[in-house]
Amino acid sequence: MTDNSSSQKPWGGRFTESTDAFVETFTASVNFDQRLYHYDIQGSRAHARMLEKVGVLSKTELDSILTGLKQIERDIEQGNFQWSVSLEDVHMNIEARLTTLIGEAGKKLHTGRSRNDQVATDLRLYLRDQINAACAELRRLQSGLLDVAERESDTLLPGFTHLQVAMPVTFGHHMLAWFENLQRDRQRLMECLKRVNVMPLGAAALAGTSFPIDRHYTAELLGFDSPAENSLDAVSDRDFVIEFCSCAALILIHLSRFSEELILWASTQFDFIDLPDRFCTGSSIMPQKKNPDVPELVRGKSGRVIGHLVGLLMLMKAQPLAYNKDNQEDKEPLFDTVDTILGCLRAFADMVPAIEVKADNMRRAAASGYATATDLADYLVRKGLAFRDAHEIVGNAVRLGIESKRDLSEMSLSELQSLSALIESDVFDVLTLEGSVSARNHYGGTAPDQVRAAIIRARQRLACSD
Ligand code: ARG
Repeated sequence: MTDNSSSQKPWGGRFTESTDAFVETFTASVNFDQRLYHYDIQGSRAHARMLEKVGVLSKTELDSILTGLKQIERDIEQGNFQWSVSLEDVHMNIEARLTTLIGEAGKKLHTGRSRNDQVATDLRLYLRDQINAACAELRRLQSGLLDVAERESDTLLPGFTHLQVAMPVTFGHHMLAWFENLQRDRQRLMECLKRVNVMPLGAAALAGTSFPIDRHYTAELLGFDSPAENSLDAVSDRDFVIEFCSCAALILIHLSRFSEELILWASTQFDFIDLPDRFCTGSSIMPQKKNPDVPELVRGKSGRVIGHLVGLLMLMKAQPLAYNKDNQEDKEPLFDTVDTILGCLRAFADMVPAIEVKADNMRRAAASGYATATDLADYLVRKGLAFRDAHEIVGNAVRLGIESKRDLSEMSLSELQSLSALIESDVFDVLTLEGSVSARNHYGGTAPDQVRAAIIRARQRLACSD
């Protein structure tokens, strides 16, 4: 970074003393907003083309602006660009360099534009790409979940409520539950994209410009769906950042829940899965340890993303129209949110298909928690008993099982008959784990056949949604 005096600043004209050295660094954003350089240049190119179309710039001026911008982009990419804190932000750094490179024409680029509409445009262009990247990672993770679901559509494990064994479910069904969470996450992002893809450019500082600009043309060049309707709103709106961060927070809430399950399942106590070594780390003191670091870290990272969302809501609260410098504070939380969700989604998309399922252990756990008690109650109802009476009888059966350390399926027919005369030898069909899951044979149910049908539908939904 080099230092310039305040008189060289693009806005220095009305100032009589140079900026305080600390204030200069305090107010500068270039250290973090330089990551927008590609979008800033993209926006400038379109703005210049539009200015030429409406006759504000000559063809020669446009050509030299485009040549200059191309060189600047190349220099930045190759690490040959000298960023300057005294030029405050990415926008003024690039503009100043353009003028150094091409002279007079460079000074005309900012005609009919302000940094207020410029930064809002850059941010939307940036976010549009990031949303598409996040959707692609979500899709990759969803497709991995479907592969696991397909492989394990018959695998049995206990389903839990209150983290107590509830009823047997299939592992495929469980994976499909996470698929649905992520499907909604992706839909939310695509919905958010519609509101992101609106162009602020042309709003200038806040009220528009006296030049005969063609905002529809600029919007078309930049691939925006439309120019923003209202100039005051266009420069001050950061809803789109907050909305994206709220989508991101939900994604990480979901991944934190999924993480928690993987961590529990990988513990010695559950021992339902093995995570491949390449997704785990060891302990520097305890030689036996293999820690599920990836899910733990993802669970932890959910906190900072939720924190960014709350921070951005507080940033916007009570801001009067239109642009305020407060909004410079939107970038770091947004960038960190983007980096965090892309990293977490990538780690999960890589890891999930490699999860090793310990089917025997899962089955044993499902067989030992009275997971088919509801099936016995339903059986008695089908034999004519009211559900509440059936519930009572099965409660007694479970108590007997706990006292004698046996599952319902391990009791003799006569023992069961002593609880209810309605019980016959066909009772054992419903007391098995397979009988229990295959009885739940309706749309959205856990029966292996239903799971297989749901996977086919899920693959179609994944293919047709963009
Ligand atoms: N760096 C500023 C931001 O991020 C750009 C807009 C500055 N506009 C202004 N009028 N000072 O918000």
